[in-house]
Amino acid sequence: MIAPRILLIVGGGIAAYKACELVRLIRKAGGSTRCVLTEGGSHFVTPMALAALSEQEVHSSLWDLKNETEMGHIQLSREADLVVVCPATADLIAKMAAGIADDLATTLLLATDKPVVAVPAMNVRMWLHPATQRNVARLRADGVTVLDPDEGAMACGEFGPGRLPEPPFIWGEIEKLMDRPRPASAPGVEGGGLAGRHILVTAGPTHEPIDPVRYIANRSSGKQGYAIAGALAELGARVTLVSGPVALPTPPGVHRIDVESAREMAAAVDAALPADVAVMVAAVADWRAEDACGQKIKKDGSGLPPTLALAENPDILAGLAAGSRRPRLLIGFAAETENVIPHAIAKRDRKQADWIVANDVSGDVMGGDSNRIHLVTGTGVESWDRLTKDDVARRLAARIADEFA
Ligand code: CTP
Repeated sequence: MIAPRILLIVGGGIAAYKACELVRLIRKAGGSTRCVLTEGGSHFVTPMALAALSEQEVHSSLWDLKNETEMGHIQLSREADLVVVCPATADLIAKMAAGIADDLATTLLLATDKPVVAVPAMNVRMWLHPATQRNVARLRADGVTVLDPDEGAMACGEFGPGRLPEPPFIWGEIEKLMDRPRPASAPGVEGGGLAGRHILVTAGPTHEPIDPVRYIANRSSGKQGYAIAGALAELGARVTLVSGPVALPTPPGVHRIDVESAREMAAAVDAALPADVAVMVAAVADWRAEDACGQKIKKDGSGLPPTLALAENPDILAGLAAGSRRPRLLIGFAAETENVIPHAIAKRDRKQADWIVANDVSGDVMGGDSNRIHLVTGTGVESWDRLTKDDVARRLAARIADEFA
């Protein structure tokens, strides 16, 4: 792991003193820390303590940055490898979730293009409050890594989840994040070969309701699409991930929009345009129940099953290809169980995609961790060795970056 540069935002809470210990651990491991102290934080630790431990100037107000050309708030938010909010109070979490920027800390959090980790600490009732839980879910969906607080006796005398995890644990989580591959910067391009590009990725299955308790679905786990979204973000792209129902965490730095059905996915894709690239990995259900019933369908006692009339779903990829806001590079997937390459070539023509990433899903690909890919482009077919889904994602992201080099 390279020595990390960490921007540490210290919020206002009794646990703020532990931020001092975190600074010490980061320094001990060879990293550097620049601290930003919120107004609340300054009631619990002094700028002097953080400055002495970090050996760097501590910032606490937007207006401290007296000379924007010397150290502007944008530069402050970008020069780090990682932004850590510790302790993240209920108020800071709420502002982050809402995109409020009314002081230096929240302005930096809105302006940063780096991964963000929030380490919550607050009273147990505040942590369990639906508003905080909603805000935490929002942040996680936006790609922020929100650690779970520890459980135990709190400074306020109550008991439960809400305590700040111990600094060695927080540092361990930071190390894990920093060990993930960092953006491979292309020469002259700040932040990776896809910096400045907006890339739309669809992933997962869709669920097509039959009635309020039943639906039509498929076996897609979303793993390949999520890995691709993460790999593109690592190369600096702004990634919008439109996801069907899956049980996966949002990759760092990715903006995720959750949908259920194919028609919702089509609407979310349309709303996310324009994009430079679209990678349509989702296993969209081809059909939906023609008349989804508002009430649970009951057995009528006749012993005969109900008839399920199906209607075809919109083809999101083909619609994007034919539309006026077609991304410059449009990539489809082809899940095939036989004649993989001929079917993929035909699919590329039929859907007017630039590339088709074809995979044989006859084995355990759906839900598994590896994939054998044939990349069908306008100039031919590249067959890749069997790779993990993460490696497929990195290779595809690098191919996309090459197109924009
Ligand atoms: N796709 C889509 N909208 C649909 C169906 C598929 O956008 N309604 C996209 C998928 O995300 C994928 C590509 O089209 O990128 C191919 O999906 P696939 O399921 O392999 O193909 P189908 O169109 O369903 O064709 P078939 O079932 O005949 O193989």
